Amino acid sequence: MTGALPRLAVLASGRGSNLQAILDAIAKGGLDAEVVGVFSDKPGCEALLRVGETRRWSRDAGSYADRAGFDADLGDAVAATHPDWIVCAGYMRILGDGFLARFAGRTLNIHPSLLPKFRGLRTHARAIKAREREHGASVHFVVPELDAGAVVAQAVVPVHPGDSADMLAERVLQREHPLLLATLRLAVAGRLAERDGRAWLDGHPLFKPLRLSSADVFIEPPRHP
Ligand code: GRF
Repeated sequence: MTGALPRLAVLASGRGSNLQAILDAIAKGGLDAEVVGVFSDKPGCEALLRVGETRRWSRDAGSYADRAGFDADLGDAVAATHPDWIVCAGYMRILGDGFLARFAGRTLNIHPSLLPKFRGLRTHARAIKAREREHGASVHFVVPELDAGAVVAQAVVPVHPGDSADMLAERVLQREHPLLLATLRLAVAGRLAERDGRAWLDGHPLFKPLRLSSADVFIEPPRHP
């Protein structure tokens, strides 16, 4: 790790409530880290406004001829902040090989489903349509395939009869924030790694994702499958 505090680069495309949860936790002493930059493919997005101008970077991804060009500029901007971890928090663009190779094993994403169920978009509506009784959120390492990287941790919420996609999304979001924070605490403490396509905690492979308890801490994982 470089510098006094672990350095987080946050990628976001929209509202930025997960980013705000990170900023609030840091301000309250609940996460020993520093947000060194917020990076976006949507120059007008709300997430960018949650930090001062000097910590913002954005480019309209649509103005680039191809993904590789945008990813190269994004990667240069992220690298310039010397991050220890890259956190995709509502970042709605696929990161290509070029970007991920530069930040291998230290790029995390929060996704609103219990992966491997419901990769991609509209997860809440799809969970309702599939008559799932449980839904939730996952934090996983990012690989070039969409939402396919090793899952570190999950938070589960019930699906209630009569739920709309918006109602369920709101219930999941309430658990996303503590889930992301609990996972980042492990990451910045140096307890988390990715090796052989698997997530590792304290030098042991995780055979199942960590589960967030109702007290917002992780249930101790089994050491064996
Ligand atoms: C969250 O549900 C996140 O899991 C998903 O997009 C949403 C972003 O919310 N990838 P916010 O921008 O952090 O408020």
